[in-house]
Amino acid sequence: MNALIINCSPVRTGATAEIVRIISEALSERFQTKSICIADFDFAFCTGCRSCHRTAECVLHDDVPVIMQEFDRADLIVSVSPSYWADIPGQFKAFIDRCTPWSNTHEPHLSLRSGKKGCTVALRTGQNPQECERIIRSIEHFYGHLEIAPYGSLSLCSVEQKADVAPRKQEILAFCEQICSQIF
Ligand SMILES: Cc1cc2nc3c(=O)[nH]c(=O)nc-3n(C[C@H](O)[C@H](O)[C@H](O)COP(=O)(O)O)c2cc1C
Repeated sequence: MNALIINCSPVRTGATAEIVRIISEALSERFQTKSICIADFDFAFCTGCRSCHRTAECVLHDDVPVIMQEFDRADLIVSVSPSYWADIPGQFKAFIDRCTPWSNTHEPHLSLRSGKKGCTVALRTGQNPQECERIIRSIEHFYGHLEIAPYGSLSLCSVEQKADVAPRKQEILAFCEQICSQIF
């Protein structure tokens, strides 16, 4: 089974990247893992032309299908997102907007291989977990329209930078153990 772990932050070496690294290592006991960072791909904003609502194809040609190939290979997708102004980073939102050809809200639409599960990890500097829950809801909404079954989430508050992740390692590993013990 394949697991795709996504760094939804544009920072390749920050707190989110460190959490991605820990999750990838822990899941590698059960999965073939692959990690990607949203900043490694080049894609434009959705222009809202709605052409894909009729054709299931985007008029723009860039890296979005490359990311979606990674989604398609995966049985488990883990999105790890920091809070940027109480929401997902703009780069990840721009990617989600460009996934409209895959959204089940209109016909025709493209489809990923069925049976996928999706986990979400949200992190933030502040202490109130409600902000993490909002991020989790956004990503699970996205999973829903791609018919990826939401499969658990983790909120990590009080994380500002990479050094803040080490004291939270056990929480992250417990979350991974839960995924590995229950999945499929
Ligand atoms: C542009 C920006 C906006 C942020 N907004 C919030 C916020 O609204 N609430 C919060 O708790 N943390 C906020 N943070 C802090 C990040 O969520 C936190 O530092 C996280 O660990 C960053 O991970 P990264 O360095 O991997 O992107 C913000 C950080 C940045 C860079």
